[in-house]
Amino acid sequence: MKKRLFFIGALCMALASCSGGKSEMDRFIDELMGKMTVEEKIGQLNLPVAGDIVTGQAKSSNVSERIRKGEVGGLFNLKGAEKIRDVQRIAVEESRLGIPILFGMDVIHGYETIFPIPLGLSCSWDMAAVEQSARIAAEEASADGICWTFSPMVDVSRDARWGRVSEGSGEDTFLGCRIAEAMVRGYQGPDKETQLTEDDQILACVKHFALYGAPEAGRDYNTVDMSHIRMYNEYFPPYKAAIDAGAASVMASFNEVDGVPATGNSWLMTDVLRKQWGFDGFVVTDYTGIYEMIAHGVGDFESVSVQALKAGIDMDMVSEGFVVNVKNALDKGLVSMKDIDTACRRILEAKYRLGLFDDPYKFCRAEEAAQEVYCQEHRDIARKIASESFVLLKNENVLPLKKQGTIGLIGPLAETRSNMPGTWSVAARFDVPKTIREGLTEAVAGKARVLYAKGSNLVSDYDLEIRSTMFGRELGRDNRTDAQLLNEALAVARQSDVIVAALGEASEMSGESSCRTDIGIPDVQQKLLKALVATGKPVVLVLFNGRPLTLNWEAENVPAILDVWFGGSETADAVADVLFGDVNPSGKLTMSFPKNVGQIPLYYAAKNTGRPLLEGRWFEKFRSNYLDVDNDPLYPFGYGISYTTFEYSPVTISATEVGKGGSLTAEVTVTNTGKVAGKEVVQMYLQDVVGSTTRPLRELKGFEKVALEPGESRTVTFEITPELMSHYNSNLEFVAEPGEFIVSVGPDSRTKNSASFMLK
Ligand code: NOJ
Repeated sequence: MKKRLFFIGALCMALASCSGGKSEMDRFIDELMGKMTVEEKIGQLNLPVAGDIVTGQAKSSNVSERIRKGEVGGLFNLKGAEKIRDVQRIAVEESRLGIPILFGMDVIHGYETIFPIPLGLSCSWDMAAVEQSARIAAEEASADGICWTFSPMVDVSRDARWGRVSEGSGEDTFLGCRIAEAMVRGYQGPDKETQLTEDDQILACVKHFALYGAPEAGRDYNTVDMSHIRMYNEYFPPYKAAIDAGAASVMASFNEVDGVPATGNSWLMTDVLRKQWGFDGFVVTDYTGIYEMIAHGVGDFESVSVQALKAGIDMDMVSEGFVVNVKNALDKGLVSMKDIDTACRRILEAKYRLGLFDDPYKFCRAEEAAQEVYCQEHRDIARKIASESFVLLKNENVLPLKKQGTIGLIGPLAETRSNMPGTWSVAARFDVPKTIREGLTEAVAGKARVLYAKGSNLVSDYDLEIRSTMFGRELGRDNRTDAQLLNEALAVARQSDVIVAALGEASEMSGESSCRTDIGIPDVQQKLLKALVATGKPVVLVLFNGRPLTLNWEAENVPAILDVWFGGSETADAVADVLFGDVNPSGKLTMSFPKNVGQIPLYYAAKNTGRPLLEGRWFEKFRSNYLDVDNDPLYPFGYGISYTTFEYSPVTISATEVGKGGSLTAEVTVTNTGKVAGKEVVQMYLQDVVGSTTRPLRELKGFEKVALEPGESRTVTFEITPELMSHYNSNLEFVAEPGEFIVSVGPDSRTKNSASFMLK
């Protein structure tokens, strides 16, 4: 291989003088492509699955033979540096041109050191932590053979029924953009100019382009139908932010956009992505995305493969549409050699940027992997980040707990390891995370007793439990009757001074293809919780969930609720840290919690409508409201409390008028008025009061997480730039329109701490 590369390199050098202003990479790839057959070029566009994880219906077979024949450009979800080295060796030593292949994986929220599910991570509002989690994921994955992660998922979503809200950053566009950038920096490197030059920097893949988070009825893979003005203002920006941050690849979404499946949508993949946004990396389909276009009803296998290639897809994940159809399509004149060359070049460019032509085994560092993967240092960071992601929803003087007396730990999530990492943790080891029971028992270190009872199964319906605990994430169904389980729990409760109820969803109740129409805590667990509360003992609900849940009864009746999402491999220690007050919770919700499913989609950045409900009212005839529930969420976007309290000064602004192109600042002073140190996420919202199109009632446009000692104050200043005042108008021009703006700064999206200014 080395020899062959040297030869190619030497040829490139020889050609350099007569090849005009081409870069070294261009010359190298020109030379290489000059030697490739059509079949080999098409082979570069093929991405079969190699691992044990199958997320769709199909599996790839006979992979090594196909690598030898040059029919494989990349493989994904194969784990382990040695295994990957072996497969790479086939590509490099046994295929005609020795072109190395890409090894991808769903490294979504950590490799083996698992961080909170992305929705939880977003609730930390800590961009340094988000970047660090991606950095550590890249360090571990890259040592273990992986050079490409299918992350970040930046799909904005406002529908808690959709299971994949667990994998995104919630409902907000602005926060989604900042998280998208941080993740790309973490994976590819902090400096755009030097990204992907180190051996622990891997290709990011922004997904799912586009609008995957807006399926009708919150049902995965369902139809999406959206106005362009909403796409550009609310759903597109996080994809664009990731691309502007340097993301080297993009994954097409399964859904349709404007009636054309994204995979075959040339407006999306070429006009928007490449022409408007200047993306110059490569686009991969999602799993069998090309093949699924047949079911979408837009053509037969040959025709959908042609549509996808011509639309701007470069790599075909699992469908085999390109390898099966594109050569024939070329012979028939349905695609051109240029279409094939363009896609092939983009894949080769990614390999070149990664340095695979210099060292195809660059990412197979087994010894380093053995040292670094799931090392103590990474786990300590994951523990800290997990504790930052938890959101304290309610606390009537129960938390933090004292390490004394008897703690009754009850619930089906109290003694499971495999559920702790959370959904989409492909490389995780499910047998290693501590259970909550172990975490609490270790934390009290003999100073208190921790008694345990399961209390209930996850759900009463056995079949539903099976569907909800896939991929080995079982909860160990207990075959005793509900009454027997409950009685045992009540016996523990009676002996306890305080009850910690570990309840909620199993990790596979959210994630891909895990949508729900009832998003309450499952039936038997609710019964258990009611019985525990009825004992009169203080109850802390430690809530596991991959989505916002409906928690009306709980919010009313349970004295303390700590939402811990799925905190990753170190969940148990992080839960103990927060329950016992070693860490003061500082997470804030990034998705509104509805009062019931009927309110969905529910999000703070809504529009006023022509018939808004008047402030403080519930029902009024002929207003935009419901007969049976008010319009407000149970817990709003940005909400989360702490073991301390914070006070905000009135917001002040540097000017009440600003000229076109000018900026101003908004300022508040935040004081920790409680007795313990804490962190507060200070949030700045803008409302563009009058526009040429209707505008949201408010939109997040800035935030800062500040750490304050008791009694300490900090002034937080936000610069309001022309960009923050701008939006896409009905011609899809990005404009700041003159008129009044209201700026609000406070602890959550309901804040009334506001001032107004005029843009002239
Ligand atoms: C399907 C999912 O939609 C996508 O997010 C994932 O990256 C691929 N499967 C590969 O596993």
